[in-house]
Amino acid sequence: MYQSKIAGLGSYVPENVVTNDDLSKLMDTNDAWIQERTGIKERRHIKKGDGNSTSVMGFKAAKIAIERAKISKDDIDLIVFATLSPDLYFPGCGVMVQELLGINNTCPAIDVRDQCSGFVYAISVADQFIKTGMYKNVLVIGSENHSGGLDFSDRGRSISVIFGDGAGAAVLTRSNHIGQGILSTHLHSEGKHVMELSQKGPSTEYWVPQIIADNPQGDDIPYYPYMNGPFVFKHAITRFTEVILEGLKANGLEIDDINMLIPHQANLRISQFIQQKLKLSDDQVFNNIQKYGNTTAASIPIALTEAWEQGKIKDGDTVVLAAFGSGFTWGSVIMEW
Ligand code: COA
Repeated sequence: MYQSKIAGLGSYVPENVVTNDDLSKLMDTNDAWIQERTGIKERRHIKKGDGNSTSVMGFKAAKIAIERAKISKDDIDLIVFATLSPDLYFPGCGVMVQELLGINNTCPAIDVRDQCSGFVYAISVADQFIKTGMYKNVLVIGSENHSGGLDFSDRGRSISVIFGDGAGAAVLTRSNHIGQGILSTHLHSEGKHVMELSQKGPSTEYWVPQIIADNPQGDDIPYYPYMNGPFVFKHAITRFTEVILEGLKANGLEIDDINMLIPHQANLRISQFIQQKLKLSDDQVFNNIQKYGNTTAASIPIALTEAWEQGKIKDGDTVVLAAFGSGFTWGSVIMEW
């Protein structure tokens, strides 16, 4: 049995900064409401013509991660791509990144859904392939183009102010030192809450021509996301805490052993609640939602990359990733850096 470790990290966000004041010109919202409820000051949106898409941003982040891992693109044995906003209905973005990177082998590419838990799920998938010895280098990407699919009218204001675009990537590689790298991953889902945070179409149940035929006035538009905000908030704070504690317990670790917690950047209030509940200090938790909003599958790899770039993660540190999102799905990753 082998162990995997993160050998390289990278992130990319579009240049176009969208402030809360910018959004207030499109819909009935304001900077004070958004900051007070979510902590978000600004986010990035792809600008028409800037060349970005979910796969392109994923590619840009991946390129940096591969360089930092000091491997060649052709050493990659598997791509795992997490997104809820793929470029096409099918195929997924994994194969697109393989092509954009110019990988000359025919490595497999898996697309993972699981929304805000997407990156944690993707890391877990990658880890299993490395553990069994089947693959040595796995490229894991989380990328989202939310701005391409949000309702920027008053009707969408409680959702559209939260989400932003961006990508993060990690190269997972076989570790030479047992005990260093990913110690365990813990995944969960609870399908009875499917509709509480969801987008119905386009899908085989909500196909575009049918949506238009059923809904000529466009009052209820099923191809925009729906979120029961307070319900999601309540479940998120419980599940985040549970799955962090589950991961620590599985490794005989205590809360005090955490050097860095990177929570999925859902909402600053959620991160602060978890921090308070676990009695963690400010330097044990990393947040950057203030700058990027919630970038779903991209939020953890963007935050992890920034924390590492800022020297906040050092060799030997216990690093915890934790996520919660639509499904509901949730999970954690416990690592020794
Ligand atoms: N600007 C101004 N006012 C807004 C607004 C906006 N962008 N969006 C909603 N409002 C209004 C509502 O219409 C409502 O007005 P009313 O009281 O007159 O009816 C009021 O603000 C409160 O709305 P509500 O939805 O109850 O707000 P909330 O306090 O629950 O905050 C969220 C909304 C979405 C910020 C909060 O529920 C949340 O963070 N939930 C978790 C979301 C999350 O993390 N999702 C990602 C999961 S991974």
